[in-house]
Amino acid sequence: MRPGPRSLLAAPPPGLALCAALLLSLDLRCQAVQAENVTVLEGGTAQISCKLQNYDGSIVVIQNPRRQTLFFNGTRALKDDRFQMVLFTPRLVRITLRNVSVWDEGGYFCQLYTDDTHHQVATLSVIVPPEVPTVEVKSQAVEGGEVELTCLSPRSKPPTTLRWMRDRREIPGVVSQQDNGKTVSVSNTIRIPVERRDNGAAISCEASHPALNGQRKVRHYRLDVHFAPTVRIVPPPGILREGDSLTLTCSVSGNPVPRNVQWSRVNDTLPERAETSDSTLTISRLSQSHNGTYLCQAHNNYGRAADHYMLLVYENVSLVESVKDVSVPRMVPPTSHPTSPTLSSTFLDPEDPGAVVETQSAVPYAVIGGILALLVFAVICVLIVTIWCSVRQKGSYLTHEASGLDEHGEVQEAFLNGNDSREGKKEYLL
Ligand SMILES: *[C@@H]1O[C@H](CO)[C@@H](O)[C@H](O)[C@H]1NC(C)=O
Ligand SMILES: *[C@@H]1O[C@H](CO)[C@@H](O)[C@H](O)[C@H]1NC(C)=O
Ligand SMILES: *[C@@H]1O[C@H](CO)[C@@H](O)[C@H](O)[C@H]1NC(C)=O
Ligand SMILES: *[C@@H]1O[C@H](CO)[C@@H](O)[C@H](O)[C@H]1NC(C)=O
Ligand SMILES: *[C@@H]1O[C@H](CO)[C@@H](O)[C@H](O)[C@H]1NC(C)=O
Ligand SMILES: *[C@@H]1O[C@H](CO)[C@@H](O)[C@H](O)[C@H]1NC(C)=O
Repeated sequence: MRPGPRSLLAAPPPGLALCAALLLSLDLRCQAVQAENVTVLEGGTAQISCKLQNYDGSIVVIQNPRRQTLFFNGTRALKDDRFQMVLFTPRLVRITLRNVSVWDEGGYFCQLYTDDTHHQVATLSVIVPPEVPTVEVKSQAVEGGEVELTCLSPRSKPPTTLRWMRDRREIPGVVSQQDNGKTVSVSNTIRIPVERRDNGAAISCEASHPALNGQRKVRHYRLDVHFAPTVRIVPPPGILREGDSLTLTCSVSGNPVPRNVQWSRVNDTLPERAETSDSTLTISRLSQSHNGTYLCQAHNNYGRAADHYMLLVYENVSLVESVKDVSVPRMVPPTSHPTSPTLSSTFLDPEDPGAVVETQSAVPYAVIGGILALLVFAVICVLIVTIWCSVRQKGSYLTHEASGLDEHGEVQEAFLNGNDSREGKKEYLL
């Protein structure tokens, strides 16, 4: 208990002071007041209560920490709407204070004007919970460098605890506090090395405070790490032939993302038919004159990068060409399946991997073509042999009539057996 002033004549307004002086002259019995300490959040409502004992109807004065009288026996003395007298009974006097600010803190006096004045002080404490902290970046983070981040909680009471967290682990930092009169500003500064893979990494600053009941106010922050670009040309699948269209896509990364990509052809100009938009290059109806090395380039403030693509346009392998080739069939290569011979070897061009694809589709046509050619060849042979025989028979008809017929039959047999026609011919001639 702090010893209060015996008299409050200086504190109340002059009119009230006179009144109080009159009351003080009265002889009153021993009375007592009790006050309770109050803690309230800033902006909240505080209840200040004074318990009375043996109240005899004497004047009750309530004063604020600056000893200004708020209520003089139930009558408002100070013009501050936030204070309300809510209860005045012989046992209890209670006032409320709305929208408490830190400047309302201090001892509130409940006082009875009696012979020996009793008073009690109710101490009002105001707690200021922190807002969500803010993050300040000292300088732009560049890969290979360090970034300095400051987490700031500008106002709290008592001081907030700030922690930097990454992947649920604390990053130790340098904490500093600054007293701003009633509240404290707290900061926590960290310096961390950054690489490009840290770009976009999530870190957070957490504020914990007694007023938050174990909850935390968290500021999430994503690292923004600047780095030089990388570019990669996504090549088209398969091989390209004359008449195909080509689309090259340049996938670009970098921070900041390069604003545009440049396409070019090494030692040459881009073909007339080439169209570029954003990160793609399109050439419709390829021709072999488009052969060359194509470059995709991009840059930002931190560097430049390029990727190249070598375009080789292969000859147009048309259907007609395939059939033409089959008319001169070669033997089946040893690796092929003996019962289902393919004619792949005919078309296999070591420099033309795409030919395999073409060949597979051409096989049925090639087989038909080959059979047709064989048939034509056989018919021609039969015709020649027939004509030749008839000529010879004419010459020797009279001398070897029977043998001529025999020979003719032999030839026919040779053909029917499916032997090579030349063998048949030889046999006949001998
Ligand atoms: C009220 O607060 C004051 C100052 O902080 C302290 O001296 C006093 O003991 C407290 N009274 C009670 C009843 O807690
Ligand atoms: C003070 O107020 C109380 C309650 O209203 C009343 O009972 C008492 O008479 C008043 N005292 C004086 C001196 O006016
Ligand atoms: C509460 O008090 C603050 C100043 O302390 C003021 O800016 C604010 O408007 C007040 N709010 C209400 C609801 O009265
Ligand atoms: C290539 O062949 C396709 C069909 O086989 C044809 O449409 C195209 O015009 C040809 N291109 C050239 C350049 O000959
Ligand atoms: C471009 O030209 C230079 C000099 O003429 C030559 O050395 C280089 O190989 C050429 N590059 C390409 C991709 O053709
Ligand atoms: C283009 O490349 C293909 C595949 O290497 C080649 O066969 C062709 O001769 C080239 N054409 C020109 C004009 O260089």
